[in-house]
Amino acid sequence: MPRAGFDASWLDRRLQTGRLEYLDRDDVNDRVKRQVMWSLDWMGRILRDHEHLAARALPLVANIIEPRILELGAGHGALSRAVLALRPDARVTVTDVDPVSVATIAAGDLGSDPRAVVRRVDATDIDAPDRSYDLALFALSFHHLPPVQAARVLAEGTRVADTLLICDLYRPSAPVHLLRLASMLPFVLLPFAHDGLISSLRAYSPSAFRALAAHADPAITVEFSRLGRNHIVLARRTRLP
Ligand SMILES: C[S@@+](CC[C@H](N)C(=O)[O-])C[C@H]1O[C@@H](n2cnc3c(N)ncnc32)[C@H](O)[C@@H]1O
Repeated sequence: MPRAGFDASWLDRRLQTGRLEYLDRDDVNDRVKRQVMWSLDWMGRILRDHEHLAARALPLVANIIEPRILELGAGHGALSRAVLALRPDARVTVTDVDPVSVATIAAGDLGSDPRAVVRRVDATDIDAPDRSYDLALFALSFHHLPPVQAARVLAEGTRVADTLLICDLYRPSAPVHLLRLASMLPFVLLPFAHDGLISSLRAYSPSAFRALAAHADPAITVEFSRLGRNHIVLARRTRLP
């Protein structure tokens, strides 16, 4: 399926790539990956993305005491930290598929916080029983996955949590996307910009999200809203009483 969805225009279908980001490559020095991760965290702190996203997510568990929150693809853990700052009674499980990221998060403040558990979890195959969490979060990570695995995240996230909130790069219309890509090209030798450019080409459109959800399970519904340059997708599963 095209990243822009089955109903994408000719141009939009071409604005995608099979090339991997440094973060996803086994042949790339770990120092380069840590540099990209550091830049992501730094940008998020400067633009207050982590706080804004936590503030958008937490109303979903406003009526729950000690809400159980699962962060998938946490990378640096800043979103979970922002969640705990805004909801000190929350219980967070901070996870990533990358063992180095998990070890780095575990060695920091979250590793010794009694409200946090840090562990390795693959978002496409979550080792937790159904409805173990009130909310699952997956930030800036969904586009890393090809369609079959992306559909697995929708299935697994809505199985283990009542709501799965995905925040990812918003895919603009093809002409605007072309301009965005052109503005990024001069910086592409910098690892962060390299991964940013590929992220933009791999971002899924709302139409693609709908197709992935229908493929994962027709009982999954998706709702969209904007958060700055990103969009938020709320995925939920209709459960039989
Ligand atoms: C661009 S980083 C995003 C980090 C952080 N969430 C943020 O908002 O800055 C993407 C993260 O997704 C993780 N990831 C990729 N595939 C994954 C999977 N199948 N399960 C869990 N995490 C995954 C990567 O290891 C990486 O840490």
